Amino acid sequence: MTPARFISPVWWARDRLMLLDQRLLPTQEIERAYRRWEDVAEAIRTLVVRGAPAIGVAAAFGVALAAQESRATTFDGLWADLETASKGLAATRPTAVNLFWALERMKRVALAARDLPLERVRARLLAIRDADIAANQAMGAHGAALVPANARILTHCNAGALATAGYGTALGVIRAAHAQGKVAQVWVDETRPVMQGSRLTAWELVCEGIPHRLIADVVAASLMARGEVDLVVTGADRIAANGDTANKIGTYSLAVLARHHRVPFYVAAPFSTIDPALPSGEHIPIEERDAAEVRRVGSHETAPPDSPVFNPAFDVTPARLIAAIITERGVFRSPYRFE
Ligand code: MRU
Repeated sequence: MTPARFISPVWWARDRLMLLDQRLLPTQEIERAYRRWEDVAEAIRTLVVRGAPAIGVAAAFGVALAAQESRATTFDGLWADLETASKGLAATRPTAVNLFWALERMKRVALAARDLPLERVRARLLAIRDADIAANQAMGAHGAALVPANARILTHCNAGALATAGYGTALGVIRAAHAQGKVAQVWVDETRPVMQGSRLTAWELVCEGIPHRLIADVVAASLMARGEVDLVVTGADRIAANGDTANKIGTYSLAVLARHHRVPFYVAAPFSTIDPALPSGEHIPIEERDAAEVRRVGSHETAPPDSPVFNPAFDVTPARLIAAIITERGVFRSPYRFE
């Protein structure tokens, strides 16, 4: 058997950041090099790299590039350059809290290491990346324990290796359960409008040889009604202190369907996705994206160019619909106290 390939969307090569261009998957695997934080910000905005933890890791690399690019000769000058980069990177995507978490971490490291910022910044960066992979593997082990034998698992969007530093959150749980021989089938929502399910999750499952079938998003209800889904597991972009969870648009409707059909609905996410400062989900900022994403499928126009569009990229699933939140520190259930 060919060993499973280690997929990572973001890595460091000598003095530059490398990203696997996720806009082109599954038809092309193109790696792009970045030397300027401004270009990293643009890559995050345009979904070259996406998925909450991967956005955080890429932004952290962006700060390291800013430190590398800086011509400042004093610490205050370097600090000003890092602040500018950090603000620019923070302005790219508002919902995934991992972005802000990673930027804060990087700034704290620079502040604490006034004498050797660049070296320490780089070391911290690699630590953030490695910690994300380790967290995903731990999450996979905790989550796999919740998966019954011969499970038919439905997932939405891409919460896989491509959305993290490697391995994945929701897909990490599926990977770990598959390794234990428990996965009969993964139902993959295609995830309109950007198709992260069909383009990215299905690609990862093909690479791993995990049995799956792709479905249009609208199929989930009838599959559950026919008793063909044993559990749902998704990732998260931000989890409020009470467990309300923002994730890719369409997640909330799946959670409602799952409750109606008595199917357990799980969320898998690292602790860096929990935002203890937000008491509940209504405070989570929801990104609205370009109308063009809805008016077309790929490059093919499917709507009149003048039709007004509402295109929220995320929705919020109330904690009461979530059976459990799987993290690297264990499985949490309502009432949530993340410690
Ligand atoms: O718009 P995207 O592709 O960045 O949205 C990604 C998601 O919603 C993922 O489910 C979430 O970030 C979790 S990834 C481990």
